[in-house]
Formats: sequence, C-alpha cells, structure tokens
Amino acid sequence: MKDFVKVYDDEIQVNSYLKAKDLQMPEQSILNKYSDKIKGSVLLDVGIGTGRTTYHLSKIANKYTGIDISQGMINGANANFKNQNIDFQVGDARNMSIFKDNTFDVIFFSFNGLDHVKTDERILFFNEVKRICKNDALLVFSTHNILNIPLLMRLKISFHPLIFYDYFFKYLKLKFYNLRVNWSNKKVVKINDGVHNFGFNLTYIDPTYQKELLESYSFREVCCFGYPNGNEINTSDLLKTTDPWIYFSCKVN
Ligand SMILES: C[S@@+](CC[C@H](N)C(=O)[O-])C[C@H]1O[C@@H](n2cnc3c(N)ncnc32)[C@H](O)[C@@H]1O
Repeated sequence: MKDFVKVYDDEIQVNSYLKAKDLQMPEQSILNKYSDKIKGSVLLDVGIGTGRTTYHLSKIANKYTGIDISQGMINGANANFKNQNIDFQVGDARNMSIFKDNTFDVIFFSFNGLDHVKTDERILFFNEVKRICKNDALLVFSTHNILNIPLLMRLKISFHPLIFYDYFFKYLKLKFYNLRVNWSNKKVVKINDGVHNFGFNLTYIDPTYQKELLESYSFREVCCFGYPNGNEINTSDLLKTTDPWIYFSCKVN
C-alpha cells in the first residue's frame, strides 16, 4: 500500500479534489450554529486538500490560513485561489509548531483528514489545538463511524448484472483487504474502506467513545452532526447512528 501522502500528491487526485466546491450538510449546520463565532475570526483550516472549504470559510473569517500535509494538494489550492490573499502552507496536524500559542479562534479539520493520523497520534493534534487556540475557541472535525462498518462490508444487491458485478467485486476486495481486521466490540479500528482505489487504511471510531475522549481532554460543549443529512445527534442516538462519518464541534478551554 502506498503512503497516503503520495496518494494525495498524485495529479489525478488533485484534479479530482479541485472539482469539489460545496459544503457537506453537517459543515453547513455547524456554520449556521456557530455563525457568530466564525464570522470575523482568525481561522485555521487543517487538511484543506485543494480548498473545498476555503470557498466558504475564507469569506466569513477575518484571517484564514489553510494547511495540508500534501504538497500536491497545497499546489492545487494555490492554483485554485490564484491572486487571492489567502495563506496556504504545507503543515502537519500533529505538529503545528509553525503557529504561535493562542493564535486561533476557530480550527476546522474537515472530511475525515484526522482519520489518516495513527490512532495513538490523534492526541498530538488535540494537544496542538489546545496550544494554538485562544480560550473558548471552536474546534470542528469529522471522523469515520465504526458503527457504519457492517453496512459498508455487506454485499449490496442490484438486479442489473453489470452493477451487481461491480458490487460483488468491491465486496470481495473489501473482505480481502480487511481479512485480519476485527471490529466487533472495538472502540477504534483501522480499516481499508476502498476509497482512493483501496489506497490506504483509515481510522473508524465509536462516536460515543470519541465524544468521551474529547470530554476527557477537557473540550467542552461537544456536539455531533451526522453525514449526510447534517442533523445534530443527541447522546442517546449517538449510540446507534450508522452514518458513515460524524462531525464534532466543541469548545477549547
Ligand atoms: C479526504 S481529504 C479532504 C480534503 C478537504 N478537506 C476536502 O474536504 O475536500 C483529507 C485531507 O487531509 C490531509 N491530511 C491528512 N493527514 C494530515 C495531517 N496529519 N496534517 C495535515 N493534513 C492532513 C490529506 O492530505 C488530505 O488532503
């Protein structure tokens, strides 16, 4: 398996990300809920790809900075926002020493970029967030839902022979790539879910556990929003949601 950064550096990926411009529904829900906080803020957008969220967040924030670990993606973002006064840099969510303490009012890490970070290194990101954020700042990120894995791994049925062939082939590949993975009764697992042509493994986490982790790291007012519909999910529904990924918003102490 190729290193995931090489996958994102690839021109084909960059060109495909360049086409995406719309917010996901949970991102829109979060923008609505926290519009006062985000408007006029000093905002850091982590794992921006070629800047899908930049279109929206840079318009609302007072100062917008975007980072991504992939040089290819940052090149794409620079080409995308040519002649605009937006700061893009290559940077790693686990070590944001390029930024001073107490700098940001808002941090986004959208569309599951965090799931590329090794399970035991996710804490590095949260510690960096605490260091570079001002008191009472807003953190927003999304992460894959372990409760979605049974749906992902099942054989989908179609009465169209070609479509069914595709489903069956993908089903076999998912089984093959995850032969040694056991997710039952686990809180966190790394699986290959087939994205980017089975290019890498991603973290899937129990959303209730993710919420508890945030609270144990002293993040406050943790809220959860499901993808795709963007509805806010309460604590009891979080135990049973099978949405593929969940957006979390929380306040930084
Ligand atoms: C699924 S893409 C999403 C891109 C963009 N946010 C979007 O929604 O179109 C995940 C992005 O996170 C970036 N990423 C992964 N790990 C990262 C890290 N440790 N630091 C910064 N960026 C990272 C990848 O390079 C990739 O561009």
